[in-house]
Amino acid sequence: MPLARSLSVTSLSGLEDWEEDFDLEDAVLFEIAWEVANKVGGIYTVIQTKARLTCEEWGDNYFLVGPYMESSVRTQVELIEPCNPALRRTIDKMNASGCKVYFGRWLIEGSPYVVLIDVGFTAWSLDRWKSELWENFSIGVPWFDREANDAVLFGFLTAWLLGEFAAQCDSPPHIVAHFHEWLAGLGLVLCRQRQLPVATIFTTHATLLGRYLCAGNVDFYNNLAEFNVDKEAGDRQIYHRYCLERAAARCAHVFTTVSKITAIEAEHLLKRKPDVVTPNGLNVKKFSAMHEFQNLHAQSKARIQEFIRGHFYGNLDFNLDKSVFFFIAGRYEFSNKGADLFLEALARLNYLLRVNHSEVTVIAFFIMPARTNNFNVETLKGQAVRKQLWDTAQTVKERFGKKLYESLLIGQLPDVSKMLDKEDFTIIKRAIFATQRQCQPPICTHNMLEDSSDPILTCIRRIGLFNSSSDRVKVIFHPEFLSSTSPLLPMDYEEFVRGCHLGVFPSYYEPWGYTPAECTVMGIPSVSTNLSGFGCFMEEHIADPSAYGIYILDRRYRGVDESCNQLTSFLFQFCQQSRRQRIIQRNRTERLSDLLDWRYLGRYYISARHMALAKAFPDTYCYELQDPTSGFRYPRPASVPPSPAHSLHSSPHHSEAEDDDEEERYDEDLEAEKDRLNIRQPYSSTYRLQNSL
Ligand code: UDP
Ligand code: G6P
Ligand code: GLC
Repeated sequence: MPLARSLSVTSLSGLEDWEEDFDLEDAVLFEIAWEVANKVGGIYTVIQTKARLTCEEWGDNYFLVGPYMESSVRTQVELIEPCNPALRRTIDKMNASGCKVYFGRWLIEGSPYVVLIDVGFTAWSLDRWKSELWENFSIGVPWFDREANDAVLFGFLTAWLLGEFAAQCDSPPHIVAHFHEWLAGLGLVLCRQRQLPVATIFTTHATLLGRYLCAGNVDFYNNLAEFNVDKEAGDRQIYHRYCLERAAARCAHVFTTVSKITAIEAEHLLKRKPDVVTPNGLNVKKFSAMHEFQNLHAQSKARIQEFIRGHFYGNLDFNLDKSVFFFIAGRYEFSNKGADLFLEALARLNYLLRVNHSEVTVIAFFIMPARTNNFNVETLKGQAVRKQLWDTAQTVKERFGKKLYESLLIGQLPDVSKMLDKEDFTIIKRAIFATQRQCQPPICTHNMLEDSSDPILTCIRRIGLFNSSSDRVKVIFHPEFLSSTSPLLPMDYEEFVRGCHLGVFPSYYEPWGYTPAECTVMGIPSVSTNLSGFGCFMEEHIADPSAYGIYILDRRYRGVDESCNQLTSFLFQFCQQSRRQRIIQRNRTERLSDLLDWRYLGRYYISARHMALAKAFPDTYCYELQDPTSGFRYPRPASVPPSPAHSLHSSPHHSEAEDDDEEERYDEDLEAEKDRLNIRQPYSSTYRLQNSL
């Protein structure tokens, strides 16, 4: 009888022990996704941020497989010769048979190897492969569904790649192939149908039906068990996509989803309970000094303030130092992402701030890509005017400085009344005249192609948030992802998030939701919901999330109006915080980042891979399942009241020194708790190899 390797999740210890304990030498990992080196949404973030850790674990035996997209490859990938001889032979053979397969290093942290397949180049095989799909699986893909056609090509090509690779290996390899989302799922189904020696994993980051049903105003969570899935998919003309997704979920050795809430959804809609929940992590960068991330906030905030100065030129009648910046960002799914609720809550907040005579101004950014015809003139003009005012101020300052210098040279105190002459005043007046404007500061920074039917703009028209002087809440809709090369707001997304005060993500459908997680690791508080994977995960692992700047909105057990009131009260509370309270809250938020680090969350992926290996190669591997994190929970801050909004400064007895002492004690408690729970340890070596037979 062959020796079995027993993989059991027992303890936590260092990564270095791995090699002694677990011999991965003859195992190869392929991770396959449409978003490898191809940014669409959160799946790209999963793959990109996880790469470093997976490379550390698998070394040269780790390959990401994705589509070849010329524009991304030009900027992100260094094409090289394949390093692995079997893979080189595989790629050569495929290329000699009419495919275009590239090999390279993706220039991100960890520099993983990537195999990129040009699906368009093999479009000549589409009809043949679609017939095969129909004959073998009775799945008919209509000609007009471009995305599904790409999924067919990608699926057949990845299965070809894996089959050829297995054939090219000198000794039978142990291949793990991890497929993400329905677009990559067909490759998995074909691997199983062709009985390739591959341990397969399918991770779904959302279900197709879930996304469609939620966007369509359905009471989704109360009816999960009731849906007639085939009919619903058929009604929405996604039956063929649904079949591909369901087949992948059903055929996989191991099926995973990104959160518990999506696991329940998958069980009902895809008819398989996930074997493992694989929550999404991030590549957390720790600064040596705690205050560094606070400095970054201040720097980025100053840049956003500059943009605001330009955007509101001529109407800058609010105090920028008393302004707070809220934002929502992500794919433009108006109600799934909760943009509808956010807008409604902003209208209510506007009213509350006005009747309470608050000095605070809220600027709410909507960063959601829509179809546009570039920036609009009024928005660009705003930044040009700001620049002109800056230049004018510099010119007058120079002239002023020269006069001052000359008077100092002759040992006289300057005559202040003569420091600015007529010409200076003319320059200044001309600049002031240039700032006059006839219209309100624009809501939208771009020319929208579907302006009249756009959901955000339509809602703004209805609720009347038009950036007028009396509004305490101003809105800016930037219908394009941010980029540091933008002529309007030259910041990348990360810099922008750091400069804001609160991310608002009141999603209705959100299997995970990276945006609030990214806020957390940057020390920026956020609002999420108990219908998002992230929100539920934080609720599960933190005793008092709002004390850490994690506001979790109840969209599960309340009606829309009630949820909206709750959101309004979160936002209003936030506006009432002093600067000092915001700083303390940011410190607390940032302390949660360990919980979201791949070094901690990567263990679920490891668990899934080992389970798949044990199922596919039972003679070689066996696996004992234990929950890698059972019992873990971040403590309630011991020495401070639950929410900064309710605490400290309302009490006359609290001095700043006392606050600092409390925060320090709280810090120590938290660090001790993290050590006790061992959450900072990497997980890889927890699989102990035992010669069990
Ligand atoms: N994002 C970005 N630029 C932007 C706005 C968002 O790169 O201007 C990214 C963000 O960093 C996040 C992803 O888009 O990683 C959205 O992922 P999420 O899981 O929140 O939602 P999805 O779009 O996958 O549903
Ligand atoms: C950081 C900086 C401080 C700055 C503060 C502003 O903490 O280190 O120097 O005063 O941000 O905070 P605010 O919440 O008002 O943007
Ligand atoms: C999907 C989900 C999103 C999740 C992302 C990464 O796009 O919509 O909630 O964060 O995948 O798993």
